Amino acid sequence: MTRSVLPAAALSALAAAVVPLTAQAPVAPAAAAVPSVTVVIKAGRLVDPRAGTTLTNQAILVEGERIKEVGPASAVAGHAPAGARVIDLSGATVLPGLIDCHTHVTSDPGDYYQQLFRQSPIDQAVVAHVFAKRTLEAGFTTIRNVGADEFVDVALRNAINSGVVAGPRMQVSTMPLSATGGHGDVNGFSPYLRFEQASGIANGVDEIRSKIRWEIKYGADLIKVLASAGVLSEEESVGAPQYSQEELNAVVQEAAMWGKKVAAHAHGAEAIKRAVRAGVASVEHGSLLDDEGIRLMKERGTYLVADIYNDDYILAEYTRLGYPQKIIDKERQVGRLQRENFKKAVQAGVKIAFGTDAGVYPHGWNAKQFAHMVRWGLTPMQAIQAATVNAADLLGWADRVGAVEPGKFADVIAVAGDPLQDVTVLEHVGFVMKGGAVVKDSLTAGGTHAR
Ligand code: ARG
Repeated sequence: MTRSVLPAAALSALAAAVVPLTAQAPVAPAAAAVPSVTVVIKAGRLVDPRAGTTLTNQAILVEGERIKEVGPASAVAGHAPAGARVIDLSGATVLPGLIDCHTHVTSDPGDYYQQLFRQSPIDQAVVAHVFAKRTLEAGFTTIRNVGADEFVDVALRNAINSGVVAGPRMQVSTMPLSATGGHGDVNGFSPYLRFEQASGIANGVDEIRSKIRWEIKYGADLIKVLASAGVLSEEESVGAPQYSQEELNAVVQEAAMWGKKVAAHAHGAEAIKRAVRAGVASVEHGSLLDDEGIRLMKERGTYLVADIYNDDYILAEYTRLGYPQKIIDKERQVGRLQRENFKKAVQAGVKIAFGTDAGVYPHGWNAKQFAHMVRWGLTPMQAIQAATVNAADLLGWADRVGAVEPGKFADVIAVAGDPLQDVTVLEHVGFVMKGGAVVKDSLTAGGTHAR
């Protein structure tokens, strides 16, 4: 792409032409208007994932978009100004907003050939806000989006941040880095078929470095690299390495130079180990993780982000959606093993963060994975920690999300029932507040009342 540089005179003429237009722009950044009010949330039970405890009769004082104080209801009430709005969740369990570290929020499951050949990134850009809202209303107030076409994820993140679109806080990776013929390429078709859209395909250290610079230039918050083959793509193996150790080292070094972390998609044992040795922040999927990989992950403090709900949905729906038999067979190869290896990793003490691959299954169903995580080795509290404090740590956002604590964003959810007894109650989040603004409330009978 060539870019012509406009002379200063032309630039100022352009500015003069543009300013009156923006002044009349009809789009008001609604949610950006930060609520300046003080709110008291009464929490019958409050889950503290950092301490691993649940306290009763607590209250949260929210000022604007942040949490100001958390403590016993009686003490907090004494510090609230008269006229503060009260949200009465004394019959519910209150938790920090949930975090999904592996989403594809710009796309939904659909017909294989329809999505490959009859749609473009423009289609995704038009509908992505619907999926973002579903995700938020399911209680996920933060997501790390690890792959979207073109820069649709950057545009969505920016629209959410400006308040025009409702959705979770987002970190975005833009296009995953892929080897030619790898998981991020379009495989299995005639060489005469060409896709003109931008991609993350990069081979060799030099191309990798320039691709990362380009992605960061246009808005990537992190880098996603496809270290191994995948399931939902037509290359032969599901776990074979697709980047060399040298290439993966370059990915991590280049990203680090720009202050970015790396998430590595890796199903196969060798690819996982290469990614961990290179120093990625997280291994995604991790299906065929072996004992040496577990040892290395522990040694390096690498997070495992394993999408262990996905298999159910793929096996139930993807034949109907027209996916080639080869892909279904690959899923059968890894589905069960991924869960068994997840359990091994949990038992060995590998750090776990919650990530689901939402977009492979419908958005808003993110919490279905909690039950699987509990079935495969975590306690309910550990599963909640994976989706709150651990996830926040992985994102480098431990200072702002993942806990109900003074100074953090007021990202707060509530459920009827006790998720520590039955983690599936998280599939029915009845109350969602993001940054001090209530985005969903079916728990407090008519919402809120003045104090
Ligand atoms: N996006 C992943 C891939 O195509 C999905 C893997 C889903 N299967 C699973 N068992 N987690 O490789």
